Amino acid sequence: MSRALATNSHSLLRGARQPLPAALDQARLPAHVAVIMDGNGRWARRRGLPRVMGHRAGVEALKRTLRLCSDWGIGALTAYAFSTENWNRPGEEVSFLMALFERVLQRELEGLERERVRIRFLGDLAPLPGGLQQLIAEATARTQANDGIRFNVCTNYGGRAELVAAARRLAERVARGELDPASIDEAAFAEGLHTAGERDPDLLIRTSGEQRLSNFLLWQLAYAELHITEVLWPDFDEAALLAALVDYQSRQRRFGGVDPAP
Ligand code: FPP
Repeated sequence: MSRALATNSHSLLRGARQPLPAALDQARLPAHVAVIMDGNGRWARRRGLPRVMGHRAGVEALKRTLRLCSDWGIGALTAYAFSTENWNRPGEEVSFLMALFERVLQRELEGLERERVRIRFLGDLAPLPGGLQQLIAEATARTQANDGIRFNVCTNYGGRAELVAAARRLAERVARGELDPASIDEAAFAEGLHTAGERDPDLLIRTSGEQRLSNFLLWQLAYAELHITEVLWPDFDEAALLAALVDYQSRQRRFGGVDPAP
């Protein structure tokens, strides 16, 4: 991978393909990794920088993580970029984040296409600035047929709002007489979520030591393994991802069942 991008200093997946570290078993990698990218503000504060510089450094960490997941054969990466609650941040920080999303998308779209990444934005996109919505639509359309890593960016995403919207859609279909309530099962419900068509994450990584879900993928994380690291998101690097994956591979996943007989 990445041969064509080696000369493009801005490209998302720039650099030589990283081989899978010997500490990992290819057959037991998570198929889908989700990340709560926390600690950008603290990273900046510790350096005496404005908070927004932490977000800028966070983009670099996200690019590193996407490239490594792609190189190591992980099928999907879902990142929590902006929650429904993040509108409550100071206006300048929200504006900076919106402008940052636009800039990064503009700059990286060509590289994403070339690397066969399929990008989707999950969340209520209607309140986002018009220019960003257009870029999102373009990036989604131009990469939808790609067969590389699926990269989901949760933007104006809230897990509870997603569940309520899915329930409301089902209720409306029942009210119109199109749907028998008895036929509503987990699969039918999941079809109404932003993640429809995507498998559930196997591993959730949260950086900066906080031990919360923060309204992220409340339905989809039901059986995910959790890895919480003290590393602040802008410092999240190959060693930190490797540690998360080694931790994941040490777990015995039971999905509510029992351990296999010894
Ligand atoms: C949380 O750290 C981080 C965010 C709310 C923003 C994350 C966004 C990015 C890394 C940019 C991603 C870009 C694209 C194009 C997808 P925080 O600000 O809550 O940190 P703190 O808890 O230390 O204050």
